[in-house]
Amino acid sequence: MACRLLPLLLVAFVCLCSNQEAFAKKNLWKTLSGEAPLVIARGGLSGLFPDYVKIAYEFAINNSLYEAVMFCDLQLTKDGQGICRTNLDLENSTNIQLAYPNRNSTYLVNGKNISGYFSIDFTADELFNNVSAIQSYPTRTHSLDQINAPFSPEEFSGVGQSSIWLNVQYSNFFDEHKLSMASYMESLSKRMTLNYISSTEVGFLRAIAPKYRSKTKLILRFMNKEDIDPSINETYGSMLRDLTSLKEFASGILVPKSYIWPLDPQRYLQAPTDLVKDAHAVGLEIFASDFNNDGYDMSYNYSYDPIREYLQFVDNKNFAVDGFLTDFSVTASEAIACYAHNNASRSPEAGNPLIISHNGASGDYPGCTDVAYQAAIRDGVDYIDCSVQITRDGIAFCRESPDLFVGTTIASNSAFYPSRMKTIPTIKNDQGIFTFDLTWKEIQSLTVNIYNKYEKDYQLYRNPAAANVGKYMNLTAFLEFAIQVNISVLISIENARAIISERNLDVTNATLSALNQTGYNKISDRIMIQSDDSAVLLQFKQRTNFKLIYKVLEADVTVSSSAIEEIRKFANTVALPRSSLFRLANNYFLLAAPDVVKRFHNHNISVFVYTLRNEFPSLAFDFLADPTMEINSFVQVAKVDGLVTDFPATAKAYLGNKCLHPRTEDDYLMFLVDPGVDLSNLQPENFGPAIAPEPSLSSVTNSPLPSLKEALAPGPDSKSPSTSPDPRKNSSNRCSGRSLFVSLMIAVLLFLNSH
Ligand SMILES: *[C@@H]1O[C@H](CO)[C@@H](O)[C@H](O)[C@H]1NC(C)=O
Ligand SMILES: *[C@@H]1O[C@H](CO)[C@@H](O)[C@H](O)[C@H]1NC(C)=O
Ligand SMILES: *[C@@H]1O[C@H](CO)[C@@H](O)[C@H](O)[C@H]1NC(C)=O
Ligand SMILES: *[C@@H]1O[C@H](CO)[C@@H](O)[C@H](O)[C@H]1NC(C)=O
Ligand SMILES: *[C@@H]1O[C@H](CO)[C@@H](O)[C@H](O)[C@H]1NC(C)=O
Ligand SMILES: *[C@@H]1O[C@H](CO)[C@@H](O)[C@H](O)[C@H]1NC(C)=O
Ligand SMILES: *[C@@H]1O[C@H](CO)[C@@H](O)[C@H](O)[C@H]1NC(C)=O
Ligand SMILES: *[C@@H]1O[C@H](CO)[C@@H](O)[C@H](O)[C@H]1NC(C)=O
Ligand SMILES: *[C@@H]1O[C@H](CO)[C@@H](O)[C@H](O)[C@H]1NC(C)=O
Ligand SMILES: *[C@@H]1O[C@H](CO)[C@@H](O)[C@H](O)[C@H]1NC(C)=O
Ligand SMILES: *[C@@H]1O[C@H](CO)[C@@H](O)[C@H](O)[C@H]1NC(C)=O
Ligand SMILES: *[C@@H]1O[C@H](CO)[C@@H](O)[C@H](O)[C@H]1NC(C)=O
Repeated sequence: MACRLLPLLLVAFVCLCSNQEAFAKKNLWKTLSGEAPLVIARGGLSGLFPDYVKIAYEFAINNSLYEAVMFCDLQLTKDGQGICRTNLDLENSTNIQLAYPNRNSTYLVNGKNISGYFSIDFTADELFNNVSAIQSYPTRTHSLDQINAPFSPEEFSGVGQSSIWLNVQYSNFFDEHKLSMASYMESLSKRMTLNYISSTEVGFLRAIAPKYRSKTKLILRFMNKEDIDPSINETYGSMLRDLTSLKEFASGILVPKSYIWPLDPQRYLQAPTDLVKDAHAVGLEIFASDFNNDGYDMSYNYSYDPIREYLQFVDNKNFAVDGFLTDFSVTASEAIACYAHNNASRSPEAGNPLIISHNGASGDYPGCTDVAYQAAIRDGVDYIDCSVQITRDGIAFCRESPDLFVGTTIASNSAFYPSRMKTIPTIKNDQGIFTFDLTWKEIQSLTVNIYNKYEKDYQLYRNPAAANVGKYMNLTAFLEFAIQVNISVLISIENARAIISERNLDVTNATLSALNQTGYNKISDRIMIQSDDSAVLLQFKQRTNFKLIYKVLEADVTVSSSAIEEIRKFANTVALPRSSLFRLANNYFLLAAPDVVKRFHNHNISVFVYTLRNEFPSLAFDFLADPTMEINSFVQVAKVDGLVTDFPATAKAYLGNKCLHPRTEDDYLMFLVDPGVDLSNLQPENFGPAIAPEPSLSSVTNSPLPSLKEALAPGPDSKSPSTSPDPRKNSSNRCSGRSLFVSLMIAVLLFLNSH
């Protein structure tokens, strides 16, 4: 009897729990209504498609939260037809200049002369049948241009179920030209529900308010604080001081996001204003605008992760905005449905890939510094990584590159630049200043510098406030730190062969001895060794039982089956660059993904993907400038076993998001990019061939490492070059016999080289 009752009891218990959860959810949001914030798609998914075209709206409706609102900036044609376009001037967002050269004009708008192509100079027929919309943002793709005519609000009925928001700017201007926004909207509202009407003009809203009592919400849109609303000759800043009076004609306000979370001049977030609370206190809804995944104005506090920006506005203890006006409605949906009010301490699900830092949390701090490693651990990595470099005096330490131009300010340090510049073709084609040409003491005297990968081409910087903080750790100190905080480590060795040949220094042995010294070899299941050289991995295989990772350095390669067989002889994991998993077409969209991971898995080899970055230029256009979407595809489509990333916090948040393991059929499913499937089918003729023909990686086994050269007795006239201090002097009074030995060998080598 008890056994039969048990399932019933369980069902009752589950029902009780999920009801409570639903109840809790309703009161979770600090929005005015207590409901989830609205996603308002500006011109559809305008972050990818040209804005305000049919396909952009369809894509946004198909892939956003189902309550998403479609936003249209309304303009009128010469014959009084509505058209959705952002600016009065159509030149930047259409090919109108090609279709109708010389039909531009200059008009006085709110006291300023504006030149361009105005909708009031064209008939609906001319605009809808002979002009295409184009992408107007310089960093967004033009591959999807000219596939859609401009869109009229009348067409909303044909793009599927959704709420509609019409925004009116410059209604005065249209009135002056005998075109009435008010009467156009009134006739439209007889044919379809207009859920929201916003305007930048108080006069306009006051005038139409009596006509829209129940079905339509009227919203006052704020411009910059110093701008003037010509209909009442008042600045928007001054209107903020009397929110109560806005209630007479509006049920809400739409404000730039900086009204709520202002930035300081360095683009860090300041304390929030009270605006959301104040608006809610008088019963006004408040919507925030200007959300872009690829904006240059994103605060550094978000580490280029757009989801964090949305959460800042809805997932804090004090307030939540009632909606976001965004070019990327898919990311806003993700933030609201999958991330907000998430329980950070939820336990990880089985089968999650590992998160491995790349030079620590190098997206936020100078790579491989103590602060970068501490941040990586705070961010929730499973492994911290050390790329082992070696100094001239034989000290192994962690640093992203042997070349000190990367990650330090050595280029402005006259003690080393230009005197220590060298060219070592086996390591780097250009000149560099190499770690193995400086002593550990010299390297410790350098100032570290955050790696701004997208500085030159995009003027995107990483956390400038921390650009020069932190210091390097020698490998022993790194390992001791890892033991102390109980974290696993990935140790990466590159250029081992070249450094033996060029400088007679053995990184592999230095690494082994540091591991020995710290006793880390006793917890061998916490260590992975990675190299691009099979001989290095074989040395570890012979002497340790660490996990071994073969790193494929070449981008865009296919790996032959025989190569996979070979890799099994010296590694159980392979690290592949992103482009080997998801190939890019030359227009920066993804091509169909090869089944690389499956092939490795068939041979029992795990696959890590490197290097994930948050900055939007790092992402194929398919990922909608959202780094989380790329992670989602590597996890769910490619099914990788490890994510190597500059921004571990983004990967960690992804693995804990609520949508990853949906519990019911109604749960929101995060948009999943299946490479080469979704977007490339939209307009195949726009998609070119792969960037490069795919070379095949066929041989992966290297010859054994060369041995260190025998120490020879220095000849009577041996001299160190005058530019470098004598290493023997440096080390004789403090270093172990081993360093002295290594230093002696350097001296011998320098001697041999100079003859
Ligand atoms: C949106 O979904 C509809 C219905 O499934 C489909 O016909 C249409 O092609 C989709 N459009 C886009 C742009 O995804
Ligand atoms: C149009 O594009 C040009 C060049 O990119 C820019 O200078 C101008 O401000 C843009 N105009 C509008 C109305 O966006
Ligand atoms: C459409 O544009 C072309 C130029 O692209 C022009 O020759 C033609 O007259 C236009 N047609 C109409 C109906 O305006
Ligand atoms: C139209 O554009 C051309 C080229 O930019 C400019 O020289 C001309 O003054 C414009 N015409 C009007 C009426 O604004
Ligand atoms: C606008 O242009 C007209 C004609 O060129 C000129 O008379 C007028 O002064 C201009 N107004 C302003 C505000 O620049
Ligand atoms: C607008 O207000 C300012 C003072 O706030 C005044 O100087 C100006 O004349 C007014 N402009 C109009 C057109 O009323
Ligand atoms: C943003 O980052 C800066 C610099 O790290 C910090 O001082 C500030 O408190 C942060 N702001 C918020 C709101 O977290
Ligand atoms: C979060 O999850 C943990 C463990 O599952 C639980 O103990 C805690 O109460 C949860 N916190 C909230 C705020 O739901
Ligand atoms: C490594 O760093 C630790 C901590 O800074 C220090 O105690 C140790 O002497 C260093 N070892 C070498 C070989 O420099
Ligand atoms: C260290 O971490 C491992 C794996 O995360 C865990 O099993 C172990 O209990 C931890 N040890 C200590 C002392 O915290
Ligand atoms: C590490 O220690 C083991 C014994 O503890 C020893 O056999 C081995 O040679 C040592 N390796 C190095 C590189 O020092
Ligand atoms: C590394 O050390 C081992 C023994 O400790 C030695 O046999 C080997 O030759 C060394 N490697 C090189 C490249 O000298």
